[in-house]
Amino acid sequence: MADSDGARVAKDYHLDIAPPTGDGFAVKGAQHLEWGMKNRLARMFDPVSGNTVMLAFDHGYIMGPTSGLERLDVVIPPLAPHVNVLMGARGALRSCIPPTVQNPICLRVGYDKSVLFDDMSDGGGLACDIAGAIRMNAVCLAAQTFIGAAGEANSLGLLARIVDSGNAYGIPTMGVVAVGKDMARTEKFFLLATRILAENGANVVKSYYCDGFEHVTAACPVPIVIAGGKKLPEADALQMAYRAISEGAHGVDMGRNIFQAADPGAMAQAVGLVVHSGYTAAAAYEFYQDTAAK
Ligand code: 5RP
Repeated sequence: MADSDGARVAKDYHLDIAPPTGDGFAVKGAQHLEWGMKNRLARMFDPVSGNTVMLAFDHGYIMGPTSGLERLDVVIPPLAPHVNVLMGARGALRSCIPPTVQNPICLRVGYDKSVLFDDMSDGGGLACDIAGAIRMNAVCLAAQTFIGAAGEANSLGLLARIVDSGNAYGIPTMGVVAVGKDMARTEKFFLLATRILAENGANVVKSYYCDGFEHVTAACPVPIVIAGGKKLPEADALQMAYRAISEGAHGVDMGRNIFQAADPGAMAQAVGLVVHSGYTAAAAYEFYQDTAAK
């Protein structure tokens, strides 16, 4: 019998008890970290709301020129003032984003197989070492992890090496939950995957939203930010962000639902109102409609 056959089903998430933060520090699970690590996390997560809007534009590292990101130099800089963090790969940052940008950088430091492969999970590695990340002034390192796929062990090994190198220099790591083509986007899967990444040392976990999300956030001892996924109508994307924040997410790391919106700047601001200012999805959508270029 496999050990997991006898495991009791987890069900008591103590949703009425707030997670420990300690010393008034707003970032979940960071209370025992040292000053430099906390300072970098405090640049990512707004000290008042405790949340973050990260703009993901790393799609090209496996997908090539995604719709909306054909020209990073044209699309991303105007959005930067409307978000907290820029998330990209070093070649994209170096060639297309002015170094005068004030946003902290979450640097994708893992490489993965391209979308030309059916199974992308089994071939990733380190694209940028810690010296390269420091040269890029990264406040966070990010890598994709393939739980339940052929490349699981390889990607967890990579995550561990990145966490070790980040810990050595006070730079937090964001573990990104990848969902393979055959993987169901269920509460059960995200409970498992997010917890595995946190217990393996990720300081922040990026996941997708799912039903039962309040259990996923409660059981994950570090902040979860949600990916947006494929482009949705703007009102639906804001609804997803609203639900995620209401159910314990500490922000979004959103790409296509911002840069593929009819007005990306207005959408970035509308997402920010949900994430930081307690706006409902309906109120944020009203803002989007009023603000979007007519
Ligand atoms: C996948 C990622 C991407 O950055 C992310 O999924 C893109 O964001 P979106 O899904 O919102 O376009 O981390 O590994």
